[in-house]
Amino acid sequence: MTEQQPAPENPEGDEPIKQRKNGLYPGVSDELAENMKSGWADTELRDLEPIAQAPDTARRRAEISARFPGERLVIPAGNMKTRSNDNEYSFRASTEYVYLTGDQTPDGVLVLEPTGAEGHQATLYLLPRSNRENGEFWLDGMGELWVGRRHSLTEAATLYGVPCKDVRDLADALGEATGPVRAVRGHDAGIEAVLTDKVTAERDEELRVFISEQRLVKDAFEIGELQKAVDSTVRGFEDVVKVLDKAEATSERYIEGTFFLRARVEGNDTGYGSICAAGPHATTLHWVRNDGPVRSGELLLLDAGVETHTLYTADVTRTLPINGTYTGIQRKIYDAVYEAQEAGIAAVKPGANFRDFHDAAQQVLAEKLVEWGLVEGPVERVLELGLQRRWSLHGTGHMLGLDVHDCAVARTETYVNGVLEPGMVLTVEPGLYFQADDTTVPEEYRGIGVRIEDDILVTEDGNRNLSAGLPRTSSDVESWMAGLK
Ligand code: GLY
Ligand code: MN
Ligand code: MN
Repeated sequence: MTEQQPAPENPEGDEPIKQRKNGLYPGVSDELAENMKSGWADTELRDLEPIAQAPDTARRRAEISARFPGERLVIPAGNMKTRSNDNEYSFRASTEYVYLTGDQTPDGVLVLEPTGAEGHQATLYLLPRSNRENGEFWLDGMGELWVGRRHSLTEAATLYGVPCKDVRDLADALGEATGPVRAVRGHDAGIEAVLTDKVTAERDEELRVFISEQRLVKDAFEIGELQKAVDSTVRGFEDVVKVLDKAEATSERYIEGTFFLRARVEGNDTGYGSICAAGPHATTLHWVRNDGPVRSGELLLLDAGVETHTLYTADVTRTLPINGTYTGIQRKIYDAVYEAQEAGIAAVKPGANFRDFHDAAQQVLAEKLVEWGLVEGPVERVLELGLQRRWSLHGTGHMLGLDVHDCAVARTETYVNGVLEPGMVLTVEPGLYFQADDTTVPEEYRGIGVRIEDDILVTEDGNRNLSAGLPRTSSDVESWMAGLK
């Protein structure tokens, strides 16, 4: 990796250079500094079109404006985080900022300024193109020569449909502002420091909750993006099946890397750490170390999702026989989870309670556990006491969108105790997990974990499985794997 070149002592210019954190800047000759100022072509992009979701982001901003009249609203994208010295972790803009702008630029801040008792003027505060006169573009760690070309403020205004200003002026503007302010916290400590005397945690949280609840029902653009995320994820699962022999020769990491390749080539990233859990690792719910062996005769629980360029993510799980055929006990457990998932998916429809699909799936799992003699019935008693949870462990699903666990701060009454509406997208993901050291079950169960997870859109008359491109029954999984090998 290249280190920065030395910088001159603050060359003449209208802005001081924000120097690289660890920069070692012995001199640059006056001649070189002068030389670097000129000889650069005009690269302004003049034929840009607004991003596809610009009408949607405008509508969402109008909804917030109506909910918080007369208040200044501040929604930051967040900042780069240092990994070491002058190296940063890859940046992922805050969900709230992306939802309301479509932009993903580090340090960006959306400000909705009240225009009176009603209405707001939106402004997007961004870093502009780098200044070439003062050397910023090649001497500053955030200069475009180092981090890549940014959009000019004029270009960004066209793309996002919002007037843009230099974010370096925002702290002063907010410091001078009067009147009520709310900010989305947790993304930009600098902005929070400026606002510290103007905001309260309680009022800020109301803004965050409002945006979380806005996202419960997806619009057509979002549903299209989620379908893209799922379609790429389907291809990623196919990729994994094709290289299971290589994974057997190496480790679960081969699976993680294979899926990641698909995610990076077709999308932005994976939407969460891929769970590539072979054998008994499948009983560890968030197994993301992915450093274990992949063995013929065992199961692979693969829980992974591609995140699109617009940051919508899939969240899909399949539990596959590594050698292509389930054993008797594996199939018995798999088919039970499938039956539970079928019951769960059937309960996803408009007007149903959010909890219904969970209850439907848990009912089936409890019945199976009683039938197999693993827990004493009757089933009603098991469910009442929650005894099935020793092996079912987690809830049966969650909202899905820009975040894998989407709308996470929506109020209980609108989400967990809420009612399903067309446009909601949620996962249905029952599972059974028998820990390797669980002495309450016969030995043949131990070390087996099965989850089946699909992404389900609530429609006007029921639901649509966005991830139907992957097989779900045990026999369909086997035929699909055979066809790919
Ligand atoms: N991948 C995390 C989940 O399924 O919720
Ligand atoms: Mn998952
Ligand atoms: Mn999930």
